[in-house]
Amino acid sequence: MGDFNITVNGTVVPAVKGQTVLQAALAAGIDIPVFCWHPQLVPVGACRICLVEIEKFPKLQVACATPAADGMVVLTESPKVVKARQGVLEFILAHHPLDCPTCDKGGECDLQNVTFKYGLDYSRLQEPKHRTIVDEKSTFDDLQIGPEIIRNQNRCIHCYRCTRIVDEACFEDDLGAYQRGYHTEILPPPNREIRNLYSGNVVEYCPVGALTNDDWRYKVRVWLTRQAKTVCTHCPDGCNLTHWTFHNKIFRATSRPNESIDRGFICDIGRYGYQYVSSSDRLKQPMIKKNGELVESTWEEALSLIKTQVSELKSKLSGNAFFGLIGETSTNEEIYSFQRLLRRVIGTNHIDSRINRKRRLSFGEEVTERGVASDQVGFKDIDAADTFVIYASDLHSENPITALRVKRGVRYRDAKVIIINSRLTHMGARTGAANLVHKPGTGVAALTGIVDAALSSARFDKATSGLTDQNVSEFKQSHPDILLAKAASVSGISEAALSDVAETLLKSSNVVILCGSDFNRYPFRDEELLALDNLKRICKAAKIAILPENSNSVGAELFGAYPSHYPGWKGISSKSKFEDLWRGPIPDFTGKDMIGILEAINDDEIECGFIYNADPVRVFPDGNYADAVLEKLKLLVVIDSFMTDTARLADVILPLSTFAETEGTRTNWEGRIQYSQSTVKPMFGSKPGCEVLEMLAERLGGSFGQSRPVEVYRELNKALGDSLPARYEMFGAEGAIVSRPTQQAKPGLNRVAFNAMPSNSEYPFFLVVGNADHHRGIDTERNPSLLKFTGEPFVGISETDAKGLMISDGDLVRVESKSGKVVANARVLLELSSKVVFLPENFRELRPNLLMGLKEKFDHVKVTKM
Ligand code: SF4
Ligand code: SF4
Ligand code: FES
Repeated sequence: MGDFNITVNGTVVPAVKGQTVLQAALAAGIDIPVFCWHPQLVPVGACRICLVEIEKFPKLQVACATPAADGMVVLTESPKVVKARQGVLEFILAHHPLDCPTCDKGGECDLQNVTFKYGLDYSRLQEPKHRTIVDEKSTFDDLQIGPEIIRNQNRCIHCYRCTRIVDEACFEDDLGAYQRGYHTEILPPPNREIRNLYSGNVVEYCPVGALTNDDWRYKVRVWLTRQAKTVCTHCPDGCNLTHWTFHNKIFRATSRPNESIDRGFICDIGRYGYQYVSSSDRLKQPMIKKNGELVESTWEEALSLIKTQVSELKSKLSGNAFFGLIGETSTNEEIYSFQRLLRRVIGTNHIDSRINRKRRLSFGEEVTERGVASDQVGFKDIDAADTFVIYASDLHSENPITALRVKRGVRYRDAKVIIINSRLTHMGARTGAANLVHKPGTGVAALTGIVDAALSSARFDKATSGLTDQNVSEFKQSHPDILLAKAASVSGISEAALSDVAETLLKSSNVVILCGSDFNRYPFRDEELLALDNLKRICKAAKIAILPENSNSVGAELFGAYPSHYPGWKGISSKSKFEDLWRGPIPDFTGKDMIGILEAINDDEIECGFIYNADPVRVFPDGNYADAVLEKLKLLVVIDSFMTDTARLADVILPLSTFAETEGTRTNWEGRIQYSQSTVKPMFGSKPGCEVLEMLAERLGGSFGQSRPVEVYRELNKALGDSLPARYEMFGAEGAIVSRPTQQAKPGLNRVAFNAMPSNSEYPFFLVVGNADHHRGIDTERNPSLLKFTGEPFVGISETDAKGLMISDGDLVRVESKSGKVVANARVLLELSSKVVFLPENFRELRPNLLMGLKEKFDHVKVTKM
């Protein structure tokens, strides 16, 4: 039902207020050609191909920019319209090179398709076509305008979708239109390249072959490809992708618009991040250790060895001596099967997926044990917020599409952004944010200073915040020394800045607090969570979203990859339910988390383990310790796609298919479960996860008869009380949201304590770890397109410190801590504060975790020029 009706080609069509003629027609299934229009961009009426005839209008109108009005009568294919479109095409084609046979857009070019429908078979142009010459010796006039993007100006039809996408949808500024008329050129600003994190979208949405990318061009004709629907696994936003494959190889990934998540724009990490699937260093055979060396074997030999050794160990040891670790990019089905194998067949609850954290509690555990209220937050809350607090997150690199939604709020709803972090991030530069850069490790002080300032503000309204006089006075009394002044001096943020932020929050009606990876990993998170909860309480309405680190971290928690609970966040009281489901006994001892598992191995209590799609040696925040401890195991089975640092320690390695080679579901940060098809068949002798786990279960004496994800899915849905769609096909375009357990907030404000970070004269720098440009986590370094943006690891150092240490860009430097040292070239980063060193965690050659000590609360390092 619309607000009113219009008539299009004799059919009555409903329209809603604010819709254009084009939108109303498209919604009713009536096609009107477009070049410059895109649903997420402001219409500009640049190309004129959408001209339509509207009764009572003296001239033809562009459908894309004409508002629909009650009773409008529109003709989209009248002789007058067709003639006008032919005229538009004649103008466009006057200078278009007509090099379709060698154009990569061939077969999916809007200009080709519209010309096929309306074009004339002659041209009145007598003069030679205008040509923008890039290289006299080349016919194609290709110009590389970014690490991945090539421009052919002669094919450009001046629709300006590309420049508008960069500005209006990606909120960047590295592409523009220069000169005028035929001479207009699409170019980055002088001395720059188009290299923003979303740059590939301009290629996808250029309606012609004027913008192409190295990834896809000249590799395969589009009509020979097969398309499959998948979901990106590089971050927990969960963008929807299409993989284009030919002869069992993926040739490109494009967006597959999901209105609830990505709205058709994806980041380059998702776009090019499929390339590692066909990397030549994939594991190609199972491997077993013989005489201390890993050698290739057969599946039969490897599985038999696991069976013999596990049986031997089980005859001497209880399930308590076994553990399992699983990576959080695995599917829900893999996670469910893995923990079921460990609990039911091996007999252990020592299972975890939180491999890179220096702390113990999960959010679920914090909710129940500390009484902090959890929130169900999603993209729709981001779309409704008038203020965002981004805490301990480099949102742009950790959650690129969430970052776009926040920026959308800033541009189109005038939302405010407050960033609280120990370094400046790209988000701050693009959102006019209030940037509160605190001294490392003092986030709690900054948060508490804001709360204190808010409680003293005339604007603070106890009634709307739900706090009583008693709550406020209890808070003030319990923190006699936590005054705004102390918070300012500990955090290094001025009292005025803290008070300004407090005022902004008090003026806001709808706040979303987004916490990122630095919040998740560090031991001071427990205090931070309480301080954030206080911040939430002083607002009229606020929600806290804890953004998990990996594409399926939420699925890992939901489907039981934690020691503390079974699938569906079910505690020990549900043991008998799972014994019924899994047809046999499961252990009832309390499982150990990642840190507990390593400690138990070190103490010789745990002797055998299974590590699935995870590399703790590379990411655990004490790499030397993880390495030494895992080496002690009597049997280590690693199931992975690559020879990881952890796999090198294994006694048996089983080659695992990647995300593209298996179907299944994942759960994004909102709790939205989405289905991915397998886009190619298993490569290099690998096997999909559920099949490997069923083979192991069968060998170890507990077959579940579920080697296909669809079979596992049926059971995991049963474990969740059949609350998910019954079949994969029923997921629909936007997936299905699962609700997290919530707990009523405790009344009053939480007690928190904060102190200045202790100084360390021997190791005076604080180590910050994050993502290099165009990388995320440890799965992006095998993607050649992404390596064009950042190809090598580096040591980021502030301008002040670089000067003090006489270090210039490119100098070789050594970074040392009590635990270890790493060496790489320096890069001077303007966003870093003095005494902060940044290391990317995306490269095998430079492992920041070698500098971390499990027992150290703060990671202190020193830097020396070599
Ligand atoms: S390069 Fe493509 S998207 Fe950009 S203005 Fe030209 S035709 Fe339009
Ligand atoms: S990395 Fe994240 S934001 Fe980028 S495409 Fe993948 S899911 Fe989307
Ligand atoms: S699509 Fe309407 S003017 Fe370009």
